[in-house]
Amino acid sequence: METIQCIKERRSVRKFTNELVSEAVMKQIVEAAAYAPSWKNTQITRYNLIQKEELIQRIAKDATLQFQGNIKILENAKNILIISYVKGRSGFERDGSYTTSKGEQWQMFDAGIATQTFCLAAHNYGIGTVIMGIFDEKEVAKIIGLPETEAVAAILAIGYPDEDPAAPKRKDVDVLLRIK
Ligand SMILES: Cc1cc2nc3c(=O)[nH]c(=O)nc-3n(C[C@H](O)[C@H](O)[C@H](O)COP(=O)(O)O)c2cc1C
Repeated sequence: METIQCIKERRSVRKFTNELVSEAVMKQIVEAAAYAPSWKNTQITRYNLIQKEELIQRIAKDATLQFQGNIKILENAKNILIISYVKGRSGFERDGSYTTSKGEQWQMFDAGIATQTFCLAAHNYGIGTVIMGIFDEKEVAKIIGLPETEAVAAILAIGYPDEDPAAPKRKDVDVLLRIK
């Protein structure tokens, strides 16, 4: 797929068919997402695919901060992706101190780039995605048994789209771009 077309046509998809995303397809998407840039090429992002119905329903019930929009998406999803990152590397010196005044923020920066790269690659292969920011990170980590060395950056529902949403309006380039 052409790059600009892929960027512009990717949408947040919130309704999916019941089809599971296969390991083979996931491997293709993650192999592409691995080419995302990262702090000193630390590659801290991990992609945790959850397909066990019991785990998905526990996340929907106990880790959504009662946000109804996300509860509905998760209750009906068959494939959930938990984006996690390895703590203490991106933005850190070897002695554990921060490299810059942004402190820990580079970790989420890296995870964000990796997540969008994943979403674009997924779109290329016909897989829809929606990033969800409203969730209880400690509870998600507990439910999926995330290692102590990692933290949750975002949760996504993914799968074969069962809707074709219109693009929400974008700000004008004149508002977004400043040239001095
Ligand atoms: C950091 C982040 C958090 C988001 N959180 C949610 C969320 O909790 N629930 C949801 O339905 N959509 C969520 N979204 C999706 C946005 O609403 C969506 O990207 C935006 O409306 C633009 O639509 P588009 O992705 O189709 O272009 C989130 C997106 C981002 C990048």
